[in-house]
Amino acid sequence: MRPAYILGIESSCDETAAAVVRSGEHVESNVVSSQIATHQPYGGVVPELASREHLRGILPVVRQALEEAHRTYDDIDAIAVTQGPGLAGALLVGVTYAKALAWALAKPLIAVNHLEGHIHAVLLEEKQKGNREVSFPVLALVVSGGHTHLYLAQEHATGSGRATWTYQNVGQTRDDAAGEAFDKVAKLLALGYPGGPIIEKLAAHGNARTVEFGRSRMKTRGKIRGKRLQAAEPGAARFDFSFSGIKTAVLREVERRGMKTAVEARRAKLARLTRPTTEQTLAACERETLDLVASFQRAVVDDLVSKTLAAAQTLEAETLFVTGGVAANRALRAEFERRTAAEGLAVYFPSRQLSTDNAAMIAAAAYPKLLAREFASPEFSAEASLALR
Ligand code: KG4
Ligand code: ZN
Repeated sequence: MRPAYILGIESSCDETAAAVVRSGEHVESNVVSSQIATHQPYGGVVPELASREHLRGILPVVRQALEEAHRTYDDIDAIAVTQGPGLAGALLVGVTYAKALAWALAKPLIAVNHLEGHIHAVLLEEKQKGNREVSFPVLALVVSGGHTHLYLAQEHATGSGRATWTYQNVGQTRDDAAGEAFDKVAKLLALGYPGGPIIEKLAAHGNARTVEFGRSRMKTRGKIRGKRLQAAEPGAARFDFSFSGIKTAVLREVERRGMKTAVEARRAKLARLTRPTTEQTLAACERETLDLVASFQRAVVDDLVSKTLAAAQTLEAETLFVTGGVAANRALRAEFERRTAAEGLAVYFPSRQLSTDNAAMIAAAAYPKLLAREFASPEFSAEASLALR
């Protein structure tokens, strides 16, 4: 079969990204322009600023992606863009740009669900390693700053003899996403933005057994186990998450231990630095903070792993995918690996680079749609709360 080149475009949150992927598995370029510096002073993504930065970044990022791939617009077979879910204004920049480009070049346009993109980041890299046989059903945990979703994925043959995937949502967060909890806890402890990577690094220096956040959450796990026993009713089991409670619990600990003054001193100290390094942040942290973040990370990791494995057992999943920004977390990976090894369940993660938002995953997810000629209509638009089915 002739190779197919897809130009992927992603702008759903705070990264403007473009990539060229050949035949759904060879990444010829993967350019990600991060807006971290813009949002850092606010301790979180400011939607209006995100849209403005996407507008500024999209053209240079697409050009760089083509240049790095040594391709021109003529070589491109299709343009793929994230339709949703995400920030409405941010998505609109990518969608409008992709539509205009597709129209001007007379190339097909493919709309991709961002969450399917994260799932395809795993597939893309497994194919690169030569692992083409995935056993279904696949249970995918998509865990990022905006999502903590569990999908049961099945493969279906289409009329054209090609396989496509369908997804059933079997769990999600009822409030904050796991990555959001990392970001909010980092903000309240004055550790900087985004919270995940810095908490991961600081947690390595703390004692994770200092604070027992996990205890109250055990009850939820118990309920899920209970559901497992009744799993005779298909579709009845739900494996929902909740991460707003732990953020409040961290705040309570800060108050209870009288850490507020130390937190504010750190905030003032780090505010004087343009972009504090991990070493500078670490130097500004007393032992109590390190123990607190280590305990927080342990509780979140334990909750994500326990519920996902309970879902995998109940739903008789053959394979587990863990993807999205939080999947970059080494403690999460290690815990999944340790506990799936005991159960004999295959677990796959994307590389850390493809865990966070990127456009290679969007181009990869578009490839089966190109083969099935599933193109977006010219009227399609961005959808902030697009569901994955
Ligand atoms: O997938 P992503 O780039 O964007 C969304 O779709 O949200 O994920 C970003 C999120 C942020 O909340 C960030 O704090 C979190 O992923 N994150 C991490 C790590 N790296 C990024 N969380 C925990 N540990 C990490 N190493
Ligand atoms: Zn994402």
